[in-house]
Amino acid sequence: MIPTIRWENNRVCIIDQRKLPQKKEWLVCRSLQDVIAAIREMAIRGAPAIGVAAAMGLALGSQTIKTENYGTFRSKFLKMGQQIKSARPTAVNLRWAVERMIRVVEGMFDRSVEEIKKTIRKESQVILEGDIQINLMIGHNGLGLIPDGATILTHCNAGALATGGYGTALGVIRAAHEAGKDIRVIVDETRPLLQGMRLTAFELMEENIPFTVIVDSAAGYFMRKKMIDLVITGADRIASNGDTANKIGSYQLAVIAKENKIPFYVAAPLSTFDLDLENGALIPIEEREPDEVVSFAGHLLGPEGVDALNPAFDITPAGYISGIITEKGVLKSPYENSIRNILGVKDDRGPKMR
Ligand code: MRU
Repeated sequence: MIPTIRWENNRVCIIDQRKLPQKKEWLVCRSLQDVIAAIREMAIRGAPAIGVAAAMGLALGSQTIKTENYGTFRSKFLKMGQQIKSARPTAVNLRWAVERMIRVVEGMFDRSVEEIKKTIRKESQVILEGDIQINLMIGHNGLGLIPDGATILTHCNAGALATGGYGTALGVIRAAHEAGKDIRVIVDETRPLLQGMRLTAFELMEENIPFTVIVDSAAGYFMRKKMIDLVITGADRIASNGDTANKIGSYQLAVIAKENKIPFYVAAPLSTFDLDLENGALIPIEEREPDEVVSFAGHLLGPEGVDALNPAFDITPAGYISGIITEKGVLKSPYENSIRNILGVKDDRGPKMR
């Protein structure tokens, strides 16, 4: 399994996902600004992976803060946190990781800046390694939902590349394969950036898991022909009521799956839940450049001057989701209750957990 991101000689090294699968090139980030650019330009992408990148970016950035004074250090660190949080707006894991790093800094008000910097660096590694463990648990918890002989549809890439390693949706698929289940995967190519065709196909091929790529618009056709037994996707943000933001096209898959009585599962770590938001309508949706739609690999696909809309995510209402697979178990509807229970939130006036 190719690692997504690693810390090496005081640099953050990112496998450049814009170039995969044709080229395996490491992008070496020497500054916080380099990491922000890598997230924005999608050299690294996928909700948990950009959370890890943010944590490592902050560890890198903190080293450039030249002060011995805790207050000065803290205020510069908070500013860096604000900057990296805004790199991509939809995946809440970015905010989660930044807030976790800030909590470390705030808990060390009586320590030297040198000590804080070391602890921050360690914390970013803990986030990376913790994410891999969480994904292994997600995989294990999802195993029971995959019948032997199943054909599973997945969208975008929610694999090792989208996380610290192993993957969420693809983690469940990987776990089923490792458990000896005879499974087959249908991979949506996932326009416009082709995360399915380029990244999920690459990962499945590496693991020798049988798969076939389809164009996004063919999913309904195959569901109606009963050639798909279940759908599993990842998530970028899940609101308190279970409404889920994921790669554009997920919503229509969920609707067609329900119409065809096919279960639609979401696999995500608890860091993807946003209890500050009551429902999915409040989740910010990233609008990316039209250029990603109208051209590919530098070639214009339509007539000169053609315009396009390019929302990167959509919201699947909770009612279309058959279960949310997390590291602590599979959540079922009504999600308001199951999400609050799993996050240990007692009632509406209770503490907000992230
Ligand atoms: O725009 P991307 O490639 O970052 O979108 C990624 C997705 O939508 C994934 O499904 C999601 O982040 C979950 S990754 C485990």
